[in-house]
Amino acid sequence: MNYELRTMNYFRRNIEKATGYEPGFQPQQTDVVKLNTNENPYPPSPQVMKVLAEIGPEQLRRYPDPQGNAFRQAAAEVNGVRPDNIICCNGGDELLTIAFRAFCDQSRPVTYPVPTYSLYPVLANIQNCRAIEIPFDSEFNLPAKLAGADAGLTIVCNPNAPSGTFISVDELTSLADELKGVLLIDEAYVDFAEADCVSLVKDFDNVIILRSMSKGYSLAGLRFGYAVAAPPLIAGLMKVKDSYNVDSVAVAAAAAAIKDRKYFKENIEKVKKERKRLTEELRALGFEVPRSYANFVLAESKNPKAAEVYEKLTLRKIYVRYFAYPKLKDKLRITVGREEQNDKLLSALKEILSE
Ligand SMILES: Cc1ncc(COP(=O)(O)O)c(C=O)c1O
Repeated sequence: MNYELRTMNYFRRNIEKATGYEPGFQPQQTDVVKLNTNENPYPPSPQVMKVLAEIGPEQLRRYPDPQGNAFRQAAAEVNGVRPDNIICCNGGDELLTIAFRAFCDQSRPVTYPVPTYSLYPVLANIQNCRAIEIPFDSEFNLPAKLAGADAGLTIVCNPNAPSGTFISVDELTSLADELKGVLLIDEAYVDFAEADCVSLVKDFDNVIILRSMSKGYSLAGLRFGYAVAAPPLIAGLMKVKDSYNVDSVAVAAAAAAIKDRKYFKENIEKVKKERKRLTEELRALGFEVPRSYANFVLAESKNPKAAEVYEKLTLRKIYVRYFAYPKLKDKLRITVGREEQNDKLLSALKEILSE
């Protein structure tokens, strides 16, 4: 039996044609320098490890709290909002899936500036909604045309991935005011920036702030994220999510992480310090690197070509991210690592440039 042919016929046409999201390479060896998927290079808070060590069989036997209220309470305090302003999700990615399902269909497109997070078009395709992609200018300013798209969902990734650039709170406030549909501000990397847009949820009933515990809190393996929005939006998103979308172990660990403010702040400062050094050293080597507000930098290399540098780094088991897309073909996205990882990257680059 030809399984391949038969299986393909069962799918909706858009799924059949889709290629799916392409995650960054996840090497299983440990003797590598892994700077390709923007994980935090430092471990999570010791409070998280303590909570995990205390998980008992009863906690696993029972279904979790469907709304993850222990985390909602903690995240509300940290963000100066109420628990009914918060929805927990299985990573920020799940919040994006929920938002596409809630706000987009064939007559309600999504719009976002590009280049940006490559999951957005994948989700638009699954939802079978039109994606109106509006190019950023070379400085990654907010495109004026965004508000005119008349979309059900407008997404602005801020700081943007993979540029690391930041759009001001004032500009996003004006955008929220202009839009008729929902504005989702993807703040997966905001812990490394100087400002955030969470205060907008108090003034606007159409703003959703996405947050991730993967980057600033070193919990990419746990899969936990959340959103902050006006209570009626949160109530609507709750109708779309899976009934038990976050497990009880993850809720307990994520709550411990967000409560440990001291550890979090120290961790962020270490990353920012290394980001500054990495940016300066890359510029000294001749790469063009815009100021980054995230835990990665985007380094432009025309000669030698970025793709060639990427291949040569990979041969040395130093993994960074290369996107063969328009506006990104001549660039490498490099996660800020620990000091010794960044040193290995920089000395490998020096070697490659002198070949
Ligand atoms: C821009 C952006 N948004 C959201 C996410 C989702 O993060 P997670 O699902 O790990 O919370 C990512 C992950 O890399 C990202 O880069």
